[in-house]
Amino acid sequence: MAAMLEINGITVRYGAIEALHNVSMSVDEGDVVALIGANGAGKSTLLKAIVNQVSLQEGSISFKGEVVSTAEKHKKSVPTHLLSQRGIALVPEGRHVFADMTVEENLDMGAFLVKDPVAVAKKKEEMYDFFPILGARRKQKTRSLSGGEQQMMAIARALMSSPHLILLDEPGLGLAPLVVQDIFNKIHLINQQDKVTVFLVEQNARMALKASNKGYCLENGNIVLADSSDALLRNDKVRAAYLGE
Ligand SMILES: Nc1ncnc2c1ncn2[C@@H]1O[C@H](COP(=O)(O)OP(=O)(O)OP(=O)(O)O)[C@@H](O)[C@H]1O
Ligand SMILES: [Mg+2]
Repeated sequence: MAAMLEINGITVRYGAIEALHNVSMSVDEGDVVALIGANGAGKSTLLKAIVNQVSLQEGSISFKGEVVSTAEKHKKSVPTHLLSQRGIALVPEGRHVFADMTVEENLDMGAFLVKDPVAVAKKKEEMYDFFPILGARRKQKTRSLSGGEQQMMAIARALMSSPHLILLDEPGLGLAPLVVQDIFNKIHLINQQDKVTVFLVEQNARMALKASNKGYCLENGNIVLADSSDALLRNDKVRAAYLGE
Protein backbone atom coordinates (compact mmCIF):
# COMPACT_ATOMS: atom_id res chain seq x y z
CA MET A 1 0.00 0.00 0.00
CA ALA A 2 1.27 3.46 -0.86
CA ALA A 3 2.06 5.84 1.98
CA MET A 4 -0.57 8.45 2.89
CA LEU A 5 1.95 11.25 2.46
CA GLU A 6 4.92 10.85 0.19
CA ILE A 7 7.66 13.45 -0.20
CA ASN A 8 9.94 12.74 -3.12
CA GLY A 9 13.27 14.54 -3.34
CA ILE A 10 12.08 18.07 -2.63
CA THR A 11 14.32 21.12 -2.66
CA VAL A 12 13.06 24.50 -1.42
CA ARG A 13 14.99 27.75 -1.73
CA TYR A 14 14.32 31.21 -0.36
CA GLY A 15 16.39 33.28 -2.78
CA ALA A 16 19.98 32.16 -2.24
CA ILE A 17 19.14 30.16 0.90
CA GLU A 18 18.50 26.47 0.35
CA ALA A 19 16.19 25.51 3.21
CA LEU A 20 15.53 21.91 2.07
CA HIS A 21 17.80 19.77 -0.06
CA ASN A 22 16.53 16.66 -1.84
CA VAL A 23 14.31 15.64 1.09
CA SER A 24 12.39 12.38 0.84
CA MET A 25 10.16 10.88 3.50
CA SER A 26 6.83 9.20 3.97
CA VAL A 27 3.99 8.99 6.47
CA ASP A 28 1.78 5.90 6.54
CA GLU A 29 -1.89 6.01 7.44
CA GLY A 30 -2.34 5.70 11.20
CA ASP A 31 1.25 6.64 12.02
CA VAL A 32 2.63 9.26 14.32
CA VAL A 33 5.80 10.45 12.59
CA ALA A 34 8.24 12.87 14.20
CA LEU A 35 10.64 15.24 12.49
CA ILE A 36 13.35 16.51 14.78
CA GLY A 37 15.99 19.12 14.10
CA ALA A 38 17.66 22.23 15.47
CA ASN A 39 16.68 25.88 14.90
CA GLY A 40 16.78 26.71 11.22
CA ALA A 41 17.07 23.07 10.09
CA GLY A 42 14.12 23.53 7.74
CA LYS A 43 11.35 21.87 9.77
CA SER A 44 8.71 24.56 9.30
CA THR A 45 9.65 24.89 5.64
CA LEU A 46 8.91 21.20 5.17
CA LEU A 47 5.42 21.58 6.69
CA LYS A 48 4.77 24.69 4.60
CA ALA A 49 5.84 22.77 1.50
CA ILE A 50 3.31 20.03 2.30
CA VAL A 51 0.44 22.54 2.38
CA ASN A 52 1.80 24.50 -0.57
CA GLN A 53 2.65 27.66 1.30
CA VAL A 54 6.11 27.57 -0.25
CA SER A 55 6.93 26.29 -3.73
CA LEU A 56 9.25 23.46 -4.66
CA GLN A 57 12.35 23.92 -6.80
CA GLU A 58 12.76 20.16 -7.18
CA GLY A 59 10.73 17.06 -6.42
CA SER A 60 7.08 16.37 -5.70
CA ILE A 61 4.62 15.58 -2.91
CA SER A 62 1.77 13.06 -3.04
CA PHE A 63 -1.16 12.70 -0.65
CA LYS A 64 -3.39 9.61 -0.77
CA GLY A 65 -1.74 8.57 -4.01
CA GLU A 66 -2.30 11.85 -5.84
CA VAL A 67 0.37 14.39 -6.65
CA VAL A 68 -0.55 17.60 -4.80
CA SER A 69 2.64 19.56 -5.34
CA THR A 70 5.38 19.51 -7.90
CA ALA A 71 8.30 21.63 -9.02
CA GLU A 72 7.29 21.33 -12.66
CA LYS A 73 5.93 24.69 -13.71
CA HIS A 74 3.31 23.36 -16.11
CA LYS A 75 1.62 21.29 -13.41
CA LYS A 76 -0.44 23.28 -10.95
CA SER A 77 -0.08 22.48 -7.28
CA VAL A 78 -3.24 22.10 -5.21
CA PRO A 79 -3.88 25.30 -3.19
CA THR A 80 -3.78 25.19 0.60
CA HIS A 81 -7.53 25.48 1.19
CA LEU A 82 -8.26 22.63 -1.21
CA LEU A 83 -5.67 20.49 0.58
CA SER A 84 -7.64 21.14 3.72
CA GLN A 85 -10.75 19.83 1.97
CA ARG A 86 -8.79 16.75 0.94
CA GLY A 87 -7.88 16.12 4.55
CA ILE A 88 -4.63 17.88 5.53
CA ALA A 89 -4.67 20.35 8.43
CA LEU A 90 -1.69 22.37 9.64
CA VAL A 91 -1.27 23.73 13.16
CA PRO A 92 1.38 26.35 12.45
CA GLU A 93 4.35 27.27 14.59
CA GLY A 94 3.44 29.96 17.11
CA ARG A 95 -0.22 28.89 16.87
CA HIS A 96 -1.49 31.92 14.88
CA VAL A 97 -4.76 32.13 16.74
CA PHE A 98 -7.14 35.01 16.07
CA ALA A 99 -6.54 36.82 19.33
CA ASP A 100 -9.48 39.22 19.14
CA MET A 101 -11.98 36.49 18.37
CA THR A 102 -13.56 34.21 20.92
CA VAL A 103 -12.68 30.55 21.19
CA GLU A 104 -15.93 29.69 19.45
CA GLU A 105 -15.25 32.09 16.56
CA ASN A 106 -11.79 30.61 16.13
CA LEU A 107 -13.27 27.13 15.90
CA ASP A 108 -15.79 28.40 13.33
CA MET A 109 -12.84 29.65 11.25
CA GLY A 110 -11.40 26.14 11.28
CA ALA A 111 -14.63 24.86 9.74
CA PHE A 112 -15.07 27.58 7.12
CA LEU A 113 -15.13 25.00 4.34
CA VAL A 114 -17.77 22.89 6.08
CA LYS A 115 -21.09 24.11 4.69
CA ASP A 116 -23.47 22.26 7.02
CA PRO A 117 -24.09 24.36 10.19
CA VAL A 118 -25.44 21.35 12.08
CA ALA A 119 -22.21 19.46 11.41
CA VAL A 120 -20.16 22.46 12.54
CA ALA A 121 -22.14 22.79 15.78
CA LYS A 122 -21.73 19.06 16.46
CA LYS A 123 -18.00 19.22 15.80
CA LYS A 124 -17.63 22.18 18.16
CA GLU A 125 -19.38 20.25 20.94
CA GLU A 126 -16.99 17.35 20.31
CA MET A 127 -14.07 19.75 20.68
CA TYR A 128 -15.48 21.14 23.93
CA ASP A 129 -15.82 17.60 25.27
CA PHE A 130 -12.30 16.72 24.21
CA PHE A 131 -10.79 20.00 25.52
CA PRO A 132 -13.07 20.91 28.47
CA ILE A 133 -11.07 24.07 29.13
CA LEU A 134 -12.13 25.35 25.70
CA GLY A 135 -15.75 24.58 26.49
CA ALA A 136 -15.49 26.63 29.67
CA ARG A 137 -13.87 29.50 27.77
CA ARG A 138 -15.91 29.37 24.57
CA LYS A 139 -17.18 32.98 24.79
CA GLN A 140 -13.86 34.36 25.92
CA LYS A 141 -11.47 36.29 23.67
CA THR A 142 -8.57 34.10 22.71
CA ARG A 143 -5.96 36.60 23.85
CA SER A 144 -7.03 35.97 27.45
CA LEU A 145 -6.13 32.26 27.23
CA SER A 146 -2.84 30.87 28.53
CA GLY A 147 -0.23 29.67 26.05
CA GLY A 148 -1.18 26.04 26.60
CA GLU A 149 -4.88 26.80 26.16
CA GLN A 150 -4.13 28.67 22.96
CA GLN A 151 -2.19 25.68 21.67
CA MET A 152 -5.14 23.40 22.50
CA MET A 153 -7.37 25.82 20.64
CA ALA A 154 -5.09 25.84 17.60
CA ILE A 155 -5.25 22.03 17.56
CA ALA A 156 -9.04 22.04 18.00
CA ARG A 157 -9.38 24.56 15.18
CA ALA A 158 -7.39 22.26 12.89
CA LEU A 159 -9.57 19.30 13.92
CA MET A 160 -12.74 21.20 12.97
CA SER A 161 -12.13 20.25 9.32
CA SER A 162 -12.03 16.53 10.31
CA PRO A 163 -8.56 16.00 8.81
CA HIS A 164 -7.04 12.62 7.97
CA LEU A 165 -3.55 14.02 8.44
CA ILE A 166 -2.65 16.68 10.99
CA LEU A 167 0.66 18.53 10.77
CA LEU A 168 1.84 19.99 14.06
CA ASP A 169 4.66 22.55 14.11
CA GLU A 170 6.28 22.56 17.57
CA PRO A 171 3.13 22.15 19.67
CA GLY A 172 5.21 22.27 22.84
CA LEU A 173 7.08 25.46 22.04
CA GLY A 174 7.41 27.83 25.00
CA LEU A 175 5.15 25.81 27.30
CA ALA A 176 5.83 24.40 30.76
CA PRO A 177 6.69 20.66 30.88
CA LEU A 178 3.37 19.65 32.45
CA VAL A 179 1.43 21.53 29.78
CA VAL A 180 3.55 19.97 27.05
CA GLN A 181 2.76 16.55 28.52
CA ASP A 182 -0.95 17.41 28.46
CA ILE A 183 -0.76 18.38 24.81
CA PHE A 184 1.12 15.23 23.86
CA ASN A 185 -1.49 13.15 25.69
CA LYS A 186 -4.14 14.79 23.52
CA ILE A 187 -2.12 14.14 20.37
CA HIS A 188 -1.93 10.47 21.34
CA LEU A 189 -5.73 10.32 21.73
CA ILE A 190 -6.31 12.14 18.44
CA ASN A 191 -4.23 9.46 16.75
CA GLN A 192 -5.57 6.44 18.64
CA GLN A 193 -9.25 7.33 19.06
CA ASP A 194 -9.96 9.55 16.10
CA LYS A 195 -7.59 7.66 13.79
CA VAL A 196 -5.96 10.84 12.59
CA THR A 197 -2.47 10.38 11.13
CA VAL A 198 0.02 12.73 12.78
CA PHE A 199 3.17 14.40 11.48
CA LEU A 200 4.88 16.20 14.29
CA VAL A 201 7.75 18.69 14.14
CA GLU A 202 9.63 19.34 17.36
CA GLN A 203 12.86 20.65 18.79
CA ASN A 204 11.95 18.70 21.92
CA ALA A 205 13.34 15.49 20.47
CA ARG A 206 12.69 13.29 23.49
CA MET A 207 8.99 14.15 23.66
CA ALA A 208 8.59 13.81 19.92
CA LEU A 209 10.33 10.45 19.66
CA LYS A 210 8.48 9.03 22.66
CA ALA A 211 5.18 10.09 21.12
CA SER A 212 5.87 8.68 17.64
CA ASN A 213 6.53 5.36 15.95
CA LYS A 214 8.85 6.64 13.23
CA GLY A 215 11.24 9.56 13.12
CA TYR A 216 13.37 11.64 10.80
CA CYS A 217 16.23 13.88 11.69
CA LEU A 218 16.75 17.05 9.66
CA GLU A 219 20.08 18.91 9.63
CA ASN A 220 20.66 22.00 7.49
CA GLY A 221 17.90 21.00 5.10
CA ASN A 222 19.06 17.38 4.75
CA ILE A 223 17.48 14.24 6.19
CA VAL A 224 20.41 12.63 7.99
CA LEU A 225 18.61 9.85 9.87
CA ALA A 226 15.40 7.90 9.37
CA ASP A 227 14.38 5.04 11.64
CA SER A 228 11.82 3.77 14.11
CA SER A 229 11.49 6.22 17.00
CA ASP A 230 12.67 3.54 19.45
CA ALA A 231 15.85 3.07 17.46
CA LEU A 232 16.42 6.83 17.24
CA LEU A 233 16.02 7.17 21.02
CA ARG A 234 18.84 4.63 21.38
CA ASN A 235 20.98 6.08 18.57
CA ASP A 236 24.30 7.50 19.88
CA LYS A 237 24.27 10.42 17.48
CA VAL A 238 20.70 11.38 18.39
CA ARG A 239 21.46 11.02 22.08
CA ALA A 240 24.50 13.28 21.83
CA ALA A 241 23.03 15.89 19.48
CA TYR A 242 19.36 16.03 20.47
CA LEU A 243 18.81 14.38 23.81
CA GLY A 244 21.70 16.02 25.66
CA GLU A 245 23.01 12.70 26.94
N1 LIG B 1 10.54 33.46 4.33
C1 LIG B 1 11.84 33.18 4.38
N2 LIG B 1 12.74 33.91 3.67
C2 LIG B 1 14.06 33.63 3.71
N3 LIG B 1 14.61 32.65 4.45
C3 LIG B 1 13.77 31.89 5.17
C4 LIG B 1 12.35 32.12 5.19
N4 LIG B 1 11.79 31.22 6.03
C5 LIG B 1 12.80 30.46 6.49
N5 LIG B 1 13.99 30.86 6.00
C6 LIG B 1 15.30 30.26 6.26
O1 LIG B 1 15.23 28.88 5.90
C7 LIG B 1 15.91 28.09 6.86
C8 LIG B 1 14.94 27.07 7.47
O2 LIG B 1 13.95 27.75 8.23
P1 LIG B 1 12.75 27.01 8.97
O3 LIG B 1 11.88 28.05 9.54
O4 LIG B 1 12.17 26.03 8.05
O5 LIG B 1 13.54 26.26 10.11
P2 LIG B 1 12.99 25.47 11.39
O6 LIG B 1 13.69 24.17 11.43
O7 LIG B 1 11.53 25.49 11.41
O8 LIG B 1 13.56 26.39 12.57
P3 LIG B 1 12.91 26.70 14.05
O9 LIG B 1 13.20 25.51 14.88
O10 LIG B 1 13.67 27.88 14.50
O11 LIG B 1 11.45 26.96 13.86
C9 LIG B 1 16.52 29.05 7.86
O12 LIG B 1 17.85 29.30 7.47
C10 LIG B 1 15.67 30.29 7.72
O13 LIG B 1 16.39 31.44 8.05
MG1 LIG C 1 10.11 26.20 12.68
